[in-house]
Amino acid sequence: MNGIDGIFEDHPSERATGQPRIIALANQKGGVGKTTTAINLGTALAAIGERVLIVDLDPQGNASTGLGIDRRNRNCSTYDVLIGEAKLREAIVPTAVPRLHIAASTMDLSGLELELGTARDRAFRLRDAIADLNTDAPEGADYTYVLVDCPPSLNLITVNAMAASHAILVPLQCEFFALEGLSQLLQTVEQVRSTLNPTLSIHGIVLTMFDSRNNLSNQVVADVREFMGDKVYDTMIPRNVRISEAPSYGKPVLVYDLKCVGSDAYLRLATEVIQRERALRMH
Ligand SMILES: Nc1ncnc2c1ncn2[C@@H]1O[C@H](COP(=O)(O)OP(=O)(O)OP(=O)(O)O)[C@@H](O)[C@H]1O
Ligand SMILES: [Mg+2]
Repeated sequence: MNGIDGIFEDHPSERATGQPRIIALANQKGGVGKTTTAINLGTALAAIGERVLIVDLDPQGNASTGLGIDRRNRNCSTYDVLIGEAKLREAIVPTAVPRLHIAASTMDLSGLELELGTARDRAFRLRDAIADLNTDAPEGADYTYVLVDCPPSLNLITVNAMAASHAILVPLQCEFFALEGLSQLLQTVEQVRSTLNPTLSIHGIVLTMFDSRNNLSNQVVADVREFMGDKVYDTMIPRNVRISEAPSYGKPVLVYDLKCVGSDAYLRLATEVIQRERALRMH
């Protein structure tokens, strides 16, 4: 695993006043909890007073659907923003959660790579779209966090997310192949850092779908913590049926069942994320 160590040095970029903190939820493995974490971390951050924008960059649009955004209300989507036909502000809709907004996605996004071809700025479309997000925002309507939900692929969309973000947050499912593919993800981060975005850091790794009764789950946790050290958040997200039911009601789990263990875990994760942010800023 030579060459991976250096990746974990943090290069926090000072948050310019008025700029949101931008975090991408990325892992090219499918079904590991990226979207669930975007929705519920976003909700938990909003619940503790942050003003949060989720940017749905997955053509599947699961974050948009999971937050109850009807397909008919996606006239303007992240696709329109990335091809340059709309401003990010125009694609934003409120959710049922106070202080939580979303820029929804549509299937069109799957054609983005072809659409953008070899345009010189093709990796910077999201960065440029976010750049003036808070400019001219009315008092109290600026965002403090932007969470970008990536598709399960290391394609141009994910590269756009990494080029635009201060940090990435990696959900890892507690299953046998958890670490498989992680070095490829970290290599991509390294590549983006050396070319497109020198200040990109790894915010942290969150273990998802943890089942304490399962020996394998416990073994995976031990392995990941050994390999990734304190990059792994203390909070683990348990496997919890309430978490998986919530999206079919178009609700975050914190709204669907605030008292369940899943909601509790996402609130703790939000607290940890904010603590890390403070620590990064004090450096
Ligand atoms: N902690 C959990 N407990 C139970 N089910 C979960 C949990 N986290 C996620 N799930 C379920 O697992 C499935 C995959 O989760 P999710 O959609 O968040 O993953 P993803 O990484 O965004 O997937 P994709 O790569 O397809 O975008 C979903 O059906 C979701 O409801
Ligand atoms: Mg997803």
